[in-house]
Amino acid sequence: MKKTSKTRVLFVCLGNICRSPTAHGVFEALVEARSLAGQIEVDSAGTGDWHVGFPPDKRAQAEARRRGVDISSLRARQVKNADFDRFDYVVAMDEANLRDLKRLMPEHFSGYLGLFLPFAPELDISEVPDPYYGAANGFVRVFDLIECASEGLLAEIQRADSN
Ligand code: 4NP
Repeated sequence: MKKTSKTRVLFVCLGNICRSPTAHGVFEALVEARSLAGQIEVDSAGTGDWHVGFPPDKRAQAEARRRGVDISSLRARQVKNADFDRFDYVVAMDEANLRDLKRLMPEHFSGYLGLFLPFAPELDISEVPDPYYGAANGFVRVFDLIECASEGLLAEIQRADSN
């Protein structure tokens, strides 16, 4: 059951400086492009607290900018228990994030808690790989995967809303 007339989506990764802010920016841009900003709210958070208050990683910012999405104003925060009372979709980038979120999830949560990439079944992987310690092209791959799954997630939200 939806919490309010608005649908609220929270993207979660480990640090909230690479993958989830990219998903936040890409999904928000898609929502705006489809003139759905009044109906869908987007946010992101990390399971860890090391980077709280910091902007996205420079490499994530650069790749997003190159693809027309500005994520420079986002600031990292840590996911909290109360997020489950606010958000309808809590979307994890990988299995470790999902495991941590399941520990935090209150029993009464009735929204979606799950991985992001299954919204793009055509992809051959289910997790967005952590690009933090990898090469710069990891950020290109992360953006590609996120762009693809964003379309699928939006389609699912619209399908659920029409019921
Ligand atoms: P993110 O990437 O979870 O996609 O934001 C990471 C950022 C920082 C660290 C690991 C992953 N770290 O170990 O500090």
